[in-house]
Amino acid sequence: MNGMVKVAFGQMKPVLLKPERNYKSAEKLIREASKRGARLIVLPELFDTGYNFDERKEVEEVAGLVPGGATTSFLVRTAREHGIFIVAGTAERDGFGRLYNSAVVVGPHGYVGKYRKIHLFAREKEFFEPGNLGFQVFNLGFARVGVMICFDWFFPESARTLAMKGAEIIAHPANLVMPYAPRAMPIRALENRVYTITADRVGEERGLRFIGRSQINSPSAETLVEGSESGEEVGVADVDLALARDKRLNDYNDIFKDRRPRYYAR
Ligand code: ACM
Repeated sequence: MNGMVKVAFGQMKPVLLKPERNYKSAEKLIREASKRGARLIVLPELFDTGYNFDERKEVEEVAGLVPGGATTSFLVRTAREHGIFIVAGTAERDGFGRLYNSAVVVGPHGYVGKYRKIHLFAREKEFFEPGNLGFQVFNLGFARVGVMICFDWFFPESARTLAMKGAEIIAHPANLVMPYAPRAMPIRALENRVYTITADRVGEERGLRFIGRSQINSPSAETLVEGSESGEEVGVADVDLALARDKRLNDYNDIFKDRRPRYYAR
C-alpha cells in the first residue's frame, strides 16, 4: 500500500426528516471531493435524517436497513458513480425494529460494512440502542479505516482501540454541539499517530446549534484543513499513511510498544 492519498470531509447542513433532500446535498459534496482527487470522503453523523428528533416515532419513519435501505442504496450508487469510498452517518433500523445511530462504509465496489455508535450522547439515549458491534477497522485496500461517531471522541478508548486494531485513518462522522472536539481531535490523532477526519454539520435544528469546523488532523497534531462554522463545504488534504503506520517518536520510543497496560488496570 503506497503512502500518499487525498481524503476529504463533506460538511453538510442536513434538513431534519428529509432524506431525499439530504441525498442531493451529499451527492454534490461527494462529486466535488471525487473531482478534487479524494479516495475517501466522510459525511456527518445522521447526514440523511438530521439529528434533533422530538420522539422515537420520527426516527422510525426515516430509519432504514443497513444494508438494504434507501440510504445505503444511495451511498453505494454514488460511490460507484464517482469511484470513491464513503463513510456516512445514518439512522439504522434493524430487522427487529431496534434503532441505531450508525455509520455505513461503502466503496466503488459496493457495501463494505457498518459501525453502530457506542457512546450515545444526551437524548440519543431516548431513541437509539447503544452500539453492539465493537470498534471496527475496515481494510479499504489503500488504507485501513476505523470508524467512530461524534461523542465517541470524548472517550479516548475509542480512538485508542481503533488505532490498536490497525486503523491508519479514523473516520469520525459528527454532529458537534459542544465546542471542545476541534481542540481535542488533534490530540487523539497525536496520541495514536493516526489521521483523523471529523465530518461535522452546520445549522440549527429546533433551537440546537451545530458548530461546523470539520477537520482533518495529522499524526503530529496538525490540522491540515478545517471547515467554517456555517457553510456546506468539502475539505481535502493529502495524507501520508506511512506516518500513521510508524509509531516511533524517536530512537527510544515507540508509543505502542512503550505502553505499560499492567499499570493502567484499576
Ligand atoms: C453528539 O454525539 N452528536 C454530540
